[in-house]
Amino acid sequence: CILILDFGSQVTQLIARRVRESGTFCEILPYNADESRIRGYDPKGIILSGGPDSVTREGSPRAPQAVFELGVPLLGICYGQQTLVEQLGGRVEGSEHQEFGKAFLEIGADVPLFEGVWQAGERHQVWMSHGDRVVSLPDGFQVVGTSDGAPCAAIADPERGYYGVQFHPEVVHTPDGGRLIQQFVREIAGCRGDWSMAAFRQEAIRKIRAQVGDAKVICGLSGGVDSSVAAVLVHEAIGAQLTCIFVDHGLMRADEGTQVTELFRNSYNIPLVHRDASDLFLGKLDGVTDPEAKRKIIGTTFIDVFEEEATKIGGADFLVQGTLYPDVIESVAPKGGPSQTIKSHHNVGGLPERMDMDLVEPLRELFKDEVRALGRELGLPERMVGRHPFPGPGLAIRIPGGVTREKADILRKADRIYLEEIREAGLYDAIWQAFAVLLPVQTVGVMGDARSYDYVCALRAVTSVDGMTAESYPFDHSFLSQAATRIINEVRGINRVVYDVTSKPPGTIEWE
Ligand code: XMP
Repeated sequence: CILILDFGSQVTQLIARRVRESGTFCEILPYNADESRIRGYDPKGIILSGGPDSVTREGSPRAPQAVFELGVPLLGICYGQQTLVEQLGGRVEGSEHQEFGKAFLEIGADVPLFEGVWQAGERHQVWMSHGDRVVSLPDGFQVVGTSDGAPCAAIADPERGYYGVQFHPEVVHTPDGGRLIQQFVREIAGCRGDWSMAAFRQEAIRKIRAQVGDAKVICGLSGGVDSSVAAVLVHEAIGAQLTCIFVDHGLMRADEGTQVTELFRNSYNIPLVHRDASDLFLGKLDGVTDPEAKRKIIGTTFIDVFEEEATKIGGADFLVQGTLYPDVIESVAPKGGPSQTIKSHHNVGGLPERMDMDLVEPLRELFKDEVRALGRELGLPERMVGRHPFPGPGLAIRIPGGVTREKADILRKADRIYLEEIREAGLYDAIWQAFAVLLPVQTVGVMGDARSYDYVCALRAVTSVDGMTAESYPFDHSFLSQAATRIINEVRGINRVVYDVTSKPPGTIEWE
């Protein structure tokens, strides 16, 4: 219904997300997509995204002419606004006054885009990020909002349904931005608002079928939300053409292996190869202490084992990956077509090339909470759908220094108790990620009347939106005491517990 043309902004997907939040289907195409594709899509409205370039630079990207010929409402955001202005006969120039971050918008007029959201005369917080600014408007346009750095921070030609904003309505720092986008989508473009996760599911199934035909497909399960949702979705699309492979490196959380096999084999009846490769992984990790070396060993061993298992079942033409939008960095190359750089999932990096498989990535457009919503839509149990993220290398990067089976067992017990306490306190969903870390340090304690000399366990819990930045979770002291007491009493090998209060940055969420 809504078409988003991407000029290379890092936050274009957030626009898509806001459109979906207003219950409308949308698609993102690169700004230089074929005109026939744009027309073929038959959009009811078009949003032009921001981008890193400057319209004052010769040869910088422009919206295809079709955008103006379709006669549908347009919303230009940042760079999108500037190219809109340029292409319709206005003028943009470089400015001494750059504006980055929080700014205030003075609303200058009541226009349909603002209806029910903002009124003339009000002042509202918006998020700016621009160097250039619009200095003269095309015919038919009026200024409807100004900020200190942008005399044309919001412009409108309500007659044609053309709008331009210098700020970014799609980011959370523009608190009313989602409502503005909804207003554009529903009232100005007239989209009905009948998009839902159920519709996404059907559309995704159709696309998966079209992509793989009757070919064989495999999927590496990690026990996490993303790969599980991807696997269940693909299974729904192609049934027995899909086989899942679960390489158990012995560094999973407590009971994770059994939960995965039970869910897939028993609840969903999805063919699953479960390979217990813990001896192999722990053997290779023996004596290795450098964090990067540990990650590399786990990564390459994973690929070896996965390939071995895939070969045993006769190989496959496609590999399913639970790649999410934040894992995908899409950028538009300055010249030529848009380019894509993919941050491969740790677990299967390099595998598709080695085995000559194409990727099926049905979650590429989604954010984590949308994947969770899709998982619920597919009927996955809440415990699986709401699960905290877990890194590919597993507990190995939560045991600084050498990793042994004994240490992994100790850590698993402490981690289980910590998470039980968090669930019991009703805090699990308020926390992005919580886990225990086993430090390679022994300290002296007194238990009963005896001296103990055992490991230190560190507890970590953070809040975060996307894992890129994080804050330590402010537990009550009584919660921490209770968790610490239980861990020390119930886990042999630990006699001291500390809490990690580091933010990210400067710390990372994981310890290695
Ligand atoms: P850091 O520690 O870099 O982690 O702040 C950010 C988020 O990414 C997860 N993480 C990983 N996930 N493979 C993964 O699939 C990995 O190698 C990996 N390393 C870190 C981490 O748990 C956190 O959620």
